[in-house]
Amino acid sequence: MSPIDAVRQADPYPYYASLVAERPFSFDEELGLWVAAGARAVDAVLSDPTLRVRPADAPVPPGIVGTPAGDVFGNLVRMTDGDLHDRLKDVVVTALGRVDRAQVVKLAADRAARTERLDELMFNVPAQVVATVCGLDDGHSAEAARLIGDFVRCLPASATPDDLTAAATAAAALRDLMGPALDRRSGSLLGDLVRAAEGADWHETGPLLANGIGFLSQTYDATAGLIGNTLLALARHPAPADLTAFVDEVVRHDAPVHNTRRFAVAPFRFGDAEVEAGQSVLAVVAAANRDPEVNPDPHEFRADRADPVVFTFGAGPHGCPGQTLAVAITVGVVGELLGNGFDAASLPDQVDYRPLPNIRIPVLSVAS
Ligand code: HEM
Repeated sequence: MSPIDAVRQADPYPYYASLVAERPFSFDEELGLWVAAGARAVDAVLSDPTLRVRPADAPVPPGIVGTPAGDVFGNLVRMTDGDLHDRLKDVVVTALGRVDRAQVVKLAADRAARTERLDELMFNVPAQVVATVCGLDDGHSAEAARLIGDFVRCLPASATPDDLTAAATAAAALRDLMGPALDRRSGSLLGDLVRAAEGADWHETGPLLANGIGFLSQTYDATAGLIGNTLLALARHPAPADLTAFVDEVVRHDAPVHNTRRFAVAPFRFGDAEVEAGQSVLAVVAAANRDPEVNPDPHEFRADRADPVVFTFGAGPHGCPGQTLAVAITVGVVGELLGNGFDAASLPDQVDYRPLPNIRIPVLSVAS
């Protein structure tokens, strides 16, 4: 098995445990990259400024340079380092910090009540909720959710020419759809983004709009995975008294994001290992979540863990500012299903996972 194949295995956790115990930081000859699996290694990798989120010679994937998708990509806090990242990150964190959690739970529950299929609940509802929070009306938020599914096709390294064309078309349409909501007078997330930017003396709207689109793309796959993995966890563990605590433990125990990459611009040392400039590192956050050095009895599912150490939302300068939002959406959707008599035992014992290199999303297409 490799850390990339592991993402879609029914139970990758014994393999991850062997990496943590025997090879917490090592070079994988087959993949041609370093693999960090232990909690200390993952923390060090995600915190070190010499390890960047993009290769130095390709800040934007070559296939989308010069297209609307490339313009969006190049301005995302997720995809940039240094000064641009740090300034925009503060703006993004401030704006997302103003989102009303209770309102998000309710919006997600309302949308879920109007949605029949589980796969739509997993993908469309979270994106629609975030689009609504951004300031789009019902019709436009449904359209934005559809378009973002096309935009994310440009993100994997395996994207085909068709994927890149679809992403470029979607990025242009998303800019048209979301641009009008980028108004400081509106009480929405995009209004907050403009006001936070003004407070930080940032007046360029292009990067703000790109990061508004980024909110949708960051939501899309990962929150689908969190909802799907939570539904499967409900079939395997006792019914929760506290749904939020249950979802938080799913985040650690069966993470929707399994790994993320870094690219060295200068030598990086971890213990005796030295990563050379130009090499890349895979930080396996789902393995680090189960490192016994940071979480006792890490393979046990316990919704009442005190202070678990969790890497699913990253760590260090690129840590995810959308955690509260993602968990609130999941609680809204799953709470609505449970309230309507959804029986997790009706889910199949064996499920397939989507063939993605880093995000763990079960294929659940049955009606809810
Ligand atoms: C279950 C859902 C989610 C998971 C597991 C997740 C996980 C992550 C992870 C691991 C990173 C860091 C990647 C890295 O360091 O390489 C990240 C970054 C980010 N996430 Fe999330 N995320 C989720 C949902 C969201 C949502 C709902 C939003 C906002 C609407 C969001 C916004 C962002 C942004 C803006 C970044 C870039 C931060 C930076 O680079 O400084 N995420 N996310």
